[in-house]
Amino acid sequence: MLINKSEYIISATKKSNFPNLNFPQFAFLGRSNVGKSSFINAITNRKNLAYTSSKPGKTITLNFYLCNDSITLVDVPGYGFALNLKTDRLKFGEMIENLLHDNELLKMIFLIVDIRHEPSDDDCLMYEYLKHYNIPTTIIATKADKIGKTLIPRHIKVIKNKLNLSVNDKIVPFSSETKYGLEEVEKIISENIEAQMTDHERERFRLLADYMLEVDG
Ligand code: GTP
Ligand code: MG
Repeated sequence: MLINKSEYIISATKKSNFPNLNFPQFAFLGRSNVGKSSFINAITNRKNLAYTSSKPGKTITLNFYLCNDSITLVDVPGYGFALNLKTDRLKFGEMIENLLHDNELLKMIFLIVDIRHEPSDDDCLMYEYLKHYNIPTTIIATKADKIGKTLIPRHIKVIKNKLNLSVNDKIVPFSSETKYGLEEVEKIISENIEAQMTDHERERFRLLADYMLEVDG
C-alpha cells in the first residue's frame, strides 16, 4: 500500500485516550534513537509528520496517525534511554501493555533495529515478549545507508541469529534516508491489512458473504 495521505490524530498513554478509529493498526517499537519516527516519515512520504531528533528520547507518548483514511500508524517511545528511573520503566511498560494487549485492531508490530549493530538485550527481550503474546512482527533493520550494500546480508544474518528470529517473521533492510526497502514494507502492510482479520471482521465478512449468496440465489 502506497501511503499518500496521512494526518496526526492524537497523542495518548492510556487506553481511554486512544482515538476511536476502527482501522487496522501498525505500531513501531525499538530502542531510543534507532529511527522509528524517521521510519514513519519515510513510509508516509512526509518529511516532518513524526518528530525526529538526533538526541534519544524524542517521542514520549503513543502518537497516532491516520493514513489513506484506512489504517492507523502508532509511533512509540523508544526503550533503553531514561529507563533507569523505575517510574519511567513502569510508565513505559504500562503504555506498551495498553497498546499490545486486548487490541484486536493491531495487525503487526514493526520492531526496528540498527542494521550496523547486534541487537541489544532489550531488543531481544522485546522480541521474546512479542512472540510470547503471538503478535505478528516484522524486523526492520534501518540505517542501511550507513553500511555498504554488499555488507547487508552479513549484518542481517547477525541480527537474525541474535534475535533467534522465528521462520514466520520477516526481516527487511531499510533506509529512511534513501527509502531502500520501502516497496517491501508497503507490501507487508498491504498483506497484513487483510491476512490478520479479527474474529469480529471475519464475522462481518461471513454475514456479507451469506447475504450475497442469498441475493444471488
Ligand atoms: P526516539 O523517539 O527518541 O525513541 O527516537 P526514534 O527511534 O524515533 O529516532 P528518530 O527517528 O528520531 O531518529 C534518530 C536519528 O537517527 C535522527 O538523527 C535521524 O535523522 C537518524 N536516522 C533515522 N533513520 C535513519 C536512516 O535510515 N539513515 C540515517 N543515515 N539516519 C537515520
Ligand atoms: Mg521517535
